[in-house]
Amino acid sequence: MNADDLKKQAAARALELVQPGMRLGLGTGSTAKHFVDLLGVKVAAGFDVLCVSTSEATQAQAVSLGIPMSTLDETPELDLTVDGADEVDPQLRLIKGGGAALLREKIVAAASARMIVIADDGKLVQTLGRFPLPIEVVPFGLEATRRAVAAAVAASGGSGELTLRRKPDGTTLVTDGGHYILDAHLGTIEHPELLAQALNIVPGVVEHGLFIGLATGAILAGAGGLRLIGRIE
Ligand code: 5RP
Repeated sequence: MNADDLKKQAAARALELVQPGMRLGLGTGSTAKHFVDLLGVKVAAGFDVLCVSTSEATQAQAVSLGIPMSTLDETPELDLTVDGADEVDPQLRLIKGGGAALLREKIVAAASARMIVIADDGKLVQTLGRFPLPIEVVPFGLEATRRAVAAAVAASGGSGELTLRRKPDGTTLVTDGGHYILDAHLGTIEHPELLAQALNIVPGVVEHGLFIGLATGAILAGAGGLRLIGRIE
């Protein structure tokens, strides 16, 4: 079974949690895409849900499948969000933002009573940080913000290169919110809470990809079957 099959398995398990009439947050990325595809099949068969997306890409996919969509302005409280992750640790702390959607993903997760992470089990790590931490910043004052981010990383006991994320054509990647992303290549993040707090107060940092205290459960698919962490309900 390849990684994509595993992602689909995790997505299918998460679909079992969806009850009629639920207000759902839809994540972004290749794993969340499977979940939205499967949900689309259910909706086509008459299943009732109302969804909020975490990116323009997911919004377009959901609309194309006929999934009823809302916004957090109209539907500010959600029952469940299902989203992927770049790394998950045993305490359900996450790195997200590999798909550049971390800002809306965090807002939607925070508006949800529950957040279930779906992933292949290669995303499970003992210590976060091998995956570069995405940090969303405003374009204005980029170099000054980069230096302040480096100082925040150092203050939390970390170190590593900060790279401006680019698209495959070499141009700077711009997020759905019109911001840039600095990827922090830290290797290990020994103190995720400290780093999150330090980044939260840097002017110019819009959001970062450390999701702490947001995920309530994780469904991780591996060759040996599904591994469940936290509350799966
Ligand atoms: C997007 C994300 C994704 O959920 C994360 O990058 C995982 O993606 P994939 O399911 O494609 O591995 O955080 O911003």
